[in-house]
Amino acid sequence: TVDQGALHRLLILFCLLHPGDSGKSHWTSNTPGEEAVSIQGVRGRSVELACHPGPAPLVVLWSFTPPGSLVLRPVAITDGASSKVEAGASALGVVSLRNSSLVIGELQESARGHFLCQTLHVSGGQLHTTYLYLTLAVLVPVSKPRVQLSDPSPVEGASVVAMCAVREGTEPVTFSWYHQNPRSPGEALVGLQDPKLQLDPVNRTHLGWYTCSAHNAVNQLSSDGAFLDVIYGPDKPVITVEPLGLIEDGFWASEMEEVTLSCLAASNPPSHYVWLHDDTQVHTGPTYIIASASRTHTGLYTCLAHNGRLDTHTQTTVQLTIYYLPEGQPSCTVLPNLGAVTLLCTWPGGFPSAQLHWEGPQGTGPTAPSYVTWSYAVTGLPNGSVFTCAGQHPALALPILCRVTLWEPPGSPTCRTTATVGDQFIMLSCEWPGGEPSAVLTWMDRHQQSLGGLSSSLAVHLLQAQGDLAGREFTCRGSHPLKAPVSHCQLRL
Ligand SMILES: *[C@@H]1O[C@H](CO)[C@@H](O)[C@H](O)[C@H]1NC(C)=O
Ligand SMILES: *[C@@H]1O[C@H](CO)[C@@H](O)[C@H](O)[C@H]1NC(C)=O
Ligand SMILES: *[C@@H]1O[C@H](CO)[C@@H](O)[C@H](O)[C@H]1NC(C)=O
Repeated sequence: TVDQGALHRLLILFCLLHPGDSGKSHWTSNTPGEEAVSIQGVRGRSVELACHPGPAPLVVLWSFTPPGSLVLRPVAITDGASSKVEAGASALGVVSLRNSSLVIGELQESARGHFLCQTLHVSGGQLHTTYLYLTLAVLVPVSKPRVQLSDPSPVEGASVVAMCAVREGTEPVTFSWYHQNPRSPGEALVGLQDPKLQLDPVNRTHLGWYTCSAHNAVNQLSSDGAFLDVIYGPDKPVITVEPLGLIEDGFWASEMEEVTLSCLAASNPPSHYVWLHDDTQVHTGPTYIIASASRTHTGLYTCLAHNGRLDTHTQTTVQLTIYYLPEGQPSCTVLPNLGAVTLLCTWPGGFPSAQLHWEGPQGTGPTAPSYVTWSYAVTGLPNGSVFTCAGQHPALALPILCRVTLWEPPGSPTCRTTATVGDQFIMLSCEWPGGEPSAVLTWMDRHQQSLGGLSSSLAVHLLQAQGDLAGREFTCRGSHPLKAPVSHCQLRL
């Protein structure tokens, strides 16, 4: 059991021996104002104040002076065998003695101040006292910081201040700021040192989660995230057309095709969209699908974007032109000409007009929309030469072709006479079938005068049956562009 009476007597003795009272030579001490030992403790944790009194002290006394006070308050005393802690010492924390060291658990901020360790021991038959002054600093950990936004949903262009608030923490406290954009992974360090983060002017790239971290000599703690919802837009809409066909004044698509018009205008909150076709509303929503385009879908398409929060509007208009093919397919014909042919290719209609282009055995010919002719000198061209006309149109993946094969009718013209019923007329017929183009035939009298016009493949001439016709000669002259000398057949009546 502790001899409380003996300890009390020792306490009184110490008070009598307090340094500064006299200048006894056996005292060893550090005196206040000289080098007091500095110790740091953390509030709530424990700290041990060590006193090294040498071998077998008779008694160790700890006392405490708060800052700004001159009064020494006893804290604890021990004679090695027993010890006592003053009841009032609980204001400092949970105080105990470990041999001559003072241990303060659950350290309180009120323990900040000066501690004095006094010891008494016998050496060489004399009483010795030692004094040790310690200065205890009590550090306070930073509390969990909180982010305070001056406006959690500012409009782009405004000024926003974010504060990192900590309730307590020993200075110096330093801060760091982190930003996480919801659309990009990872956090970015956006501020250091300062508890204040200024976004002036705030813009859409600042949208996202903000956290701050506070740090002092004891610890570091991070806040929860605060969301900064920057309100903006809508920007001018961008219209895209699928499948993509770009022309000078906008977009084109083929008839019967599915055409998708998409509109995008950056905005927070997201835009509402309305589609107009030539000022008539046709759709609400970002994507307008024309299931099967027809020429009536040609026109101006306007996308209106609306930010409901700011009640702001933007719009963009594009021209859409629906292309359609001419009906049928290109048609190729060939007309004879002297020593030459006229190649004709037509494919009228459509929008835009089809481009027609001739290709011959010796190279390319002319190109024109809807209707193209090519006069071609065929002399020397082999029998069976092929000419191709290609019809091209934006709505066609591959051109549509038509062909003519120039060939020479075999043999030569054949001449015949036939009498008509009642023998009133004599019919001269000349035939040279086949060929492309057909051979041109004409009947001539003995004076090489042409009887009637030119005709193709079959030439017929009627004569009134008269006596003076007997013995008369008639010639049928046949020509074909691929055949150099003219062919004839003759008959005598
Ligand atoms: C107290 O002192 C004794 C003897 O000097 C030593 O054996 C013991 O370890 C010390 N106890 C502590 C807790 O330091
Ligand atoms: C947003 O602000 C940052 C700096 O505050 C700036 O670097 C960035 O260019 C701005 N972005 C836009 C789209 O204005
Ligand atoms: C020209 O070719 C065609 C077939 O390609 C043939 O029928 C005709 O007899 C040929 N003409 C001549 C004069 O060889």
